[in-house]
Amino acid sequence: VKRALAVFACLLLAACQGAQTPLAPAGEEAGHIFSLFTLMLWVCGGMYLLVLAFLAGAIWRARRKLAAGSDRGLQRGLTVWTGLIVVGLSVLITASFLVDRSLAEARRREALVVRVTGHQWWWRIEYRAADGSWIETANELHLPRGRTARVELRAADVIHSFWIPNVAGKMDLIPGRANTLDLTPRREGWFRGQCAEFCGAQHAHMTLDVKVEDPAQFSTWLARQAAPAATTADPVLARGLAVLASQPCGQCHRVRGTPAAGRIGPDLTHIGDRRSVAAGTLPLTRASLQGWIAQPQALKPGVNMPAVPLEPADADAVARYLEQLK
Ligand code: CUA
Repeated sequence: VKRALAVFACLLLAACQGAQTPLAPAGEEAGHIFSLFTLMLWVCGGMYLLVLAFLAGAIWRARRKLAAGSDRGLQRGLTVWTGLIVVGLSVLITASFLVDRSLAEARRREALVVRVTGHQWWWRIEYRAADGSWIETANELHLPRGRTARVELRAADVIHSFWIPNVAGKMDLIPGRANTLDLTPRREGWFRGQCAEFCGAQHAHMTLDVKVEDPAQFSTWLARQAAPAATTADPVLARGLAVLASQPCGQCHRVRGTPAAGRIGPDLTHIGDRRSVAAGTLPLTRASLQGWIAQPQALKPGVNMPAVPLEPADADAVARYLEQLK
């Protein structure tokens, strides 16, 4: 039992350090929500203990077989109890109201505009540039520390839910409707978002890599994302691009600056720069790219990407080409 308790305590503590937990807030919004959660936990926990104490007292008195009739002590106890409930609920209502106001505070700030569209089962991410154009990427969200990002949430097919527990609360992405969520990250690092609304067989494989970074670093990253793919003279890489553009790959995926101009699947212009492939399903390596191209249905059954039969040398060239798209 001792060992089990120790393991459980370690798991609890580990959860507090994690990249996907609301218990270690790294954003202003998540911080407000965490404070409200802590207050609710203490108030409701205290009430719960009082109920148990009251129950124990009742059992103890019943055992002593008190004489029937009016019981002044009980009456006084009930009055105090009712008062406690009124005070407790008032505290919680006031706190909820104040936290709601704090969350709305970010709405008044100038913000970075990001559009996130939920697809079965990946995230299309677009940043609005200074000139009004949109810079597209997928499955990896970068955010500048200390600046509010206004995320416009849309859905392409079914209802999804956008949740980066360390940074903010969750918000649904609903077809035919645009919702907005403000994110103000305060701590740098890698975090993990997860679709939080069941959206089909691969709902669990709809995750999002989130990087909160220094504003200057973020600007450099965004400028790099805006650029088209670099051209290459290497014959193997050129073959990879030729295969990608001539085979069905290029009808669904876009690599800006090349003939591959599909808009159905994730934009691959800088896929080599990302941390994972297939919305967090696999870490991004050449081997995982090769595996994903060869057998998407084995790795993520039901996904819209079909297996395109390629010669082994062609598949290898495509994986090498994608890997170096930084
Ligand atoms: Cu998308 Cu669950």
